[in-house]
Amino acid sequence: MDKFVVNGGRPLVGSVSVSGAKNAAVAILPAVILCSGVCRIENVPEISDVTNCLRILYEMGARVRTVNAHTIEIDPRTIHTQTVPHEMAKRMRASYYLIGALLGRFHHASVAMPGGCDLGPRPIDQHLKGFEALGAEIALQDGMISVAADRLVGNQIYLDVVSVGATINIMIAAVLARGLTVIENAAKEPHIVDLANFLNSMGADIRGAGTDVIKIRGVDELRSTTYSIIPDQIEAGTFMVAAAATGGDVLIENVIPKHLESISNKLIEAGAEVTEYDEAVRVRRTGRLTKCMVKTMPHPGFPTDMQPQFGVLLSVAEGTSVINEGIWDNRFRYTAQLASMGANIQVNGKVAVIQGVEKLKGAPVRANDLRAGAAMLIAGMIAEGVTEIEEIQYIERGYENIEEKLRGLGADIRRVTLPSPVSKVV
Ligand code: EPU
Repeated sequence: MDKFVVNGGRPLVGSVSVSGAKNAAVAILPAVILCSGVCRIENVPEISDVTNCLRILYEMGARVRTVNAHTIEIDPRTIHTQTVPHEMAKRMRASYYLIGALLGRFHHASVAMPGGCDLGPRPIDQHLKGFEALGAEIALQDGMISVAADRLVGNQIYLDVVSVGATINIMIAAVLARGLTVIENAAKEPHIVDLANFLNSMGADIRGAGTDVIKIRGVDELRSTTYSIIPDQIEAGTFMVAAAATGGDVLIENVIPKHLESISNKLIEAGAEVTEYDEAVRVRRTGRLTKCMVKTMPHPGFPTDMQPQFGVLLSVAEGTSVINEGIWDNRFRYTAQLASMGANIQVNGKVAVIQGVEKLKGAPVRANDLRAGAAMLIAGMIAEGVTEIEEIQYIERGYENIEEKLRGLGADIRRVTLPSPVSKVV
């Protein structure tokens, strides 16, 4: 197991290029199952969630060819199983998209309950409600979710909560169903639009993605396509916050600035300068950081996946900030690690009150989950002294080459391989 060792106190300066979006990739790759030909997917991020997803598809029988580091060709026509056992599914949270894809394509699937980051209760009742509305019968037994339908027929589905996963899964299951499916109170995240564009590029008929009403008119077949995944909104946001937190000046390239507006605006409120270009943003900070109120919400609100990184920035901002976590129950676990570095944070349920301190001090910490891990990297870069971050496998789930990218901006960060536990020699 590896850890990151960060020597803090250097502002980030220079330019960095953002990789393809994790949360688009983990939806698009399973959705390839629906295709009656070969799909070439470009701008695929090199992260462990993607590697695991490709491994699952390969083990199910798909032909997976790596064209180059970021381009993959998948031929799903050789898939020979509709069962995804626990050993495979536990590797990634988004393995639940395999249910929608297998149901859409083969009308039945049996997939183990998903793994992934522990952010509190992560129900999938809205996914299942959608599948049922399309005509599927659902059985939950021994940790497996089984779905089956004689045929899938379009329906009107009102989501009780705005759910990214349910919106995506229902879209995937409905593209080959008969007739019209309407998803109301749909999520509007950029990766939902990206998935719809991908499916449409194969011949699907999806309208309204990016609004809260998505209409899917079923088609008979989806054909081969070549599709390039959008840049990762959260990776871009993480570099933006890191630039501002370290008092740096960074040009973040290969982004869609529109996707970053809620983050840009919060950074400006906190005292950073943000300049937008066509496909880049520049973040610079020279003055003192100031307090902010943050409330995480579904898109286009401030993303929950940026909350821990922003919390670190606010821990050294002048004044008292308040963060209201509007999505997950368990997204403040990073604050205990941050407190061990000198931050002054009180958490009460889904609210954190942060009294800004002058500086953080390096300490041994761990990545509780993916975004908490990114937050610890930022904390390490602004802290005085050395911060050692363990459990970095969480960070590797969603950030491509994070240490090289940060080193390219002047961070003093290195990876240390920890010896694996040795069994006792008798
Ligand atoms: N919810 C339900 N029932 C459902 C589904 C969700 O009650 O059937 C609730 C959840 O408990 C939560 C809220 O609805 O309170 C939103 O959950 P959502 O379904 O939108 O989240 P998700 O699809 O499981 C995706 C991202 C997360 C990101 C959230 C919110 C992927 C693979 N994951 O999760 O990303 O935090 O949307 O934007 O797309 C990350 O990248 O670090 C990450 C955790």
